[in-house]
Amino acid sequence: MHDHPLLDGLRIEPTPGPTSIVIFGASGDLTQRKLLPALYHLSRGQRLPARFTVIGVARTALGDDGFRKKFRDSIKEFAGVDAESDDVAASLTQRMFYMSGELDEPALYDRLAVRLRENGGDHGVLYYLAIPPSAYRSVVERLGAAGLTAAERGWRRIIVEKPFGTDLHSARALNHVLHAHFSEEQVFRIDHYLGKETVQNLMVFRFANGMFEPIWNRRYIDHVQITAAETVGVERRAAYYEGAGALRDMVQNHLMQLLTLVAMEPPIAFTAESVRDRKMDALLSVQPLVDGAHGPSPRIVRAQYAAGWVLGAEVPGYRSEPGVAPGSTTETYVAMRLHLDNWRWAGVPFYLRTGKRLPKRTTEIAIQFRRPPMQIFKRVSPTSVSPNLLIVNVQPDEGISVRFEAKLPGTRMQLAPVMMNFRYGTAFGGTVPEAYETLLLDAMLGEPTLFARHDFVEASWALITPVLERWRSAGPKPIPQYEAGEWGPAEVDVLMAEDGRRWRTL
Ligand code: BG6
Repeated sequence: MHDHPLLDGLRIEPTPGPTSIVIFGASGDLTQRKLLPALYHLSRGQRLPARFTVIGVARTALGDDGFRKKFRDSIKEFAGVDAESDDVAASLTQRMFYMSGELDEPALYDRLAVRLRENGGDHGVLYYLAIPPSAYRSVVERLGAAGLTAAERGWRRIIVEKPFGTDLHSARALNHVLHAHFSEEQVFRIDHYLGKETVQNLMVFRFANGMFEPIWNRRYIDHVQITAAETVGVERRAAYYEGAGALRDMVQNHLMQLLTLVAMEPPIAFTAESVRDRKMDALLSVQPLVDGAHGPSPRIVRAQYAAGWVLGAEVPGYRSEPGVAPGSTTETYVAMRLHLDNWRWAGVPFYLRTGKRLPKRTTEIAIQFRRPPMQIFKRVSPTSVSPNLLIVNVQPDEGISVRFEAKLPGTRMQLAPVMMNFRYGTAFGGTVPEAYETLLLDAMLGEPTLFARHDFVEASWALITPVLERWRSAGPKPIPQYEAGEWGPAEVDVLMAEDGRRWRTL
């Protein structure tokens, strides 16, 4: 897809068989921003089958022409492509169709069945729920009632967008509804972090190399820091975010995925079940996040951004954002310390932090190693030796770096930390694909490794839900504020200082 001489002859790129994608919520934001540009890029990279159609479904009356215009606008805005002069776009446009109707109306699904049969009846069908979660249930049930969930000559699969539930109870209920009409093999729960190139590379880095795995444990690792920092605020998503907050929005899904990829045992093969079984083991070993756990106590800090300056621009506080209640206690920042109770990680704290309106957009995993057992250079180089660090830059500058000590050039023995860097951009050139490209293609190919399994989602909610309950039962307490453009509230540094550690400066 992204040409580079190094890649010549190396790629094995399967293409899906005949496929129809049915996008519920086709007039919405996700479709515009992510799905249509991803389909365009897949088409450009010749990854879509020759027999391929997109059927957009939504309430808005658009018609095929209106939907095709949306596609052209979408790739102009989000892929920088002028559809009028682009052959790939022109040909894809011809394969896009639209149906409007109420999502809970059985007649819509009868029409959909007719429409799908017109494709020749042998297409695999991928349903994409790009709709508010409150509508998931009725779409799944209507698809089931219309006989559209059982494989015919082609497969049937469903992609479920986040949020997957709002707590353990609702996640279980959603799994239950899905499993009443689809088998688990047909269900693809999206966590777009799993589609990110560096996140996938974490598995390659750990399990395709011999030199890292032997030191990937409590004997050599002091602690792990996972950061997902954003500069954006709540944007126009207050209606959703007010009821969600950072713990649900980022930690339950994305950060737990990153955590388990760092912490998992080696799978016996790179198969969906083996990889996801090992991630489950890691998740199940995370100690409860509220007190009552034996062993070292977890700690959680939450906060909300106040007005400030981000990237040189003055920005309002969360409570002044459109759609946010003036007294809102929704957290836009969470930091926590947690522990995994297993042989590999006993005694190694994992620190997680995520927030909006922070000074910089960056997501990284930093593994800090223990210092050498003896400091033989103490006398000649009194400055303290920095511990080794392995940094996985998830975004925006995808790559992996190692920090180690080196001798400063000169006649004296003096030490200084240096970095050894691998960068995707420089090593392979081109750009890395958007997560949605990878994930859409995997779903079409029936490859579920990079999707969340039902038990993972539930186990993650089982960890998070008691925290939410604890916060709720504490009543409407004022929430600590941090100035937009700062790295969170002062408490987060205290959390680290208690352990004699510091957050990495990013
Ligand atoms: C989404 C959250 O899942 O992830 C957003 O709902 C957040 O609030 C986004 O901004 C972050 O994704 P990325 O890919 O920009 O790190």
